[in-house]
Amino acid sequence: MRARQQSCPHLWRLRVAKAKRARAGLLLDPQPNARTYQPASQGFEVKLKQSFDPSAGGADVFPQDIRRALLNLIANGFYAATRRRETYGGDNEPTLTASTKNLGDRVEVRIRDNGTGMTPDVKEKMFNPFFTTKPTGEGTGLGLSISHDIIVKQHAGSIEVDTQLGEFTEIRIILPRTAVFV
Ligand SMILES: Nc1ncnc2c1ncn2[C@@H]1O[C@H](COP(=O)(O)OP(=O)(O)O)[C@@H](O)[C@H]1O
Ligand SMILES: [Mg+2]
Repeated sequence: MRARQQSCPHLWRLRVAKAKRARAGLLLDPQPNARTYQPASQGFEVKLKQSFDPSAGGADVFPQDIRRALLNLIANGFYAATRRRETYGGDNEPTLTASTKNLGDRVEVRIRDNGTGMTPDVKEKMFNPFFTTKPTGEGTGLGLSISHDIIVKQHAGSIEVDTQLGEFTEIRIILPRTAVFV
C-alpha cells in the first residue's frame, strides 16, 4: 500500500510530461488520404467521411491514449455499419463519419455510423467492462470501458451517445483544450 502511494505521483508526473498539444483532426486522421477502410481479413468496405472544422485547433492530450480511445469507437462503428444490412435490410452504404468542432475552450469530436444502432438496454450497459453483444472471439467488451477511462478520467473530457436502433450511432466526445492535471 505504502509503495503504491509513493510510486503514483512519480508515474503521474511522467504521464503529464508526455501530454502534448495535438490537432484534433490529426488524432482522427493518421492517414489523411484513406477514403475507405477494408480490414485485411474481411471482404467488406466502409466509406469514410470527414467533416473537420478548420478552426478546431488542438487540445492537450496523451496522443497515443486518445488515439486508442478513438480507434475503439471507430472499430465499433465499422462493425455496426457492416452488420446493419444483414440484420435490418435496406441498401445503405456502410458509412462512418468523423467530425471535429471548435467549442472555444473545448474541442468536440464525433464518430457516427449508419449501423445497427442500439436498444436502450444495450446503450445503458455499453460502457461496462466485459459487456459485449458480439460472438465469442469477436468482442471482449473492453473497448468502451477503456475509451471511457481515457476520455473522462485521464483527460477530464466527456462522452455521450446518441443512437437509434436500425439507424445510427453517434458518439460525441468533448475534450478540454487545456489539460487540468491536479
Ligand atoms: N457503434 C456502435 N453501434 C452499435 N452498438 C455498439 C456500438 N458501439 C458499441 N456498441 C455496443 O456496445 C458493446 C460494447 O462495446 P465495446 O466495449 O467496444 O466491446 P466489444 O466491441 O468488444 O463488444 C458492443 O458489443 C455493442 O453491443
Ligand atoms: Mg469494441
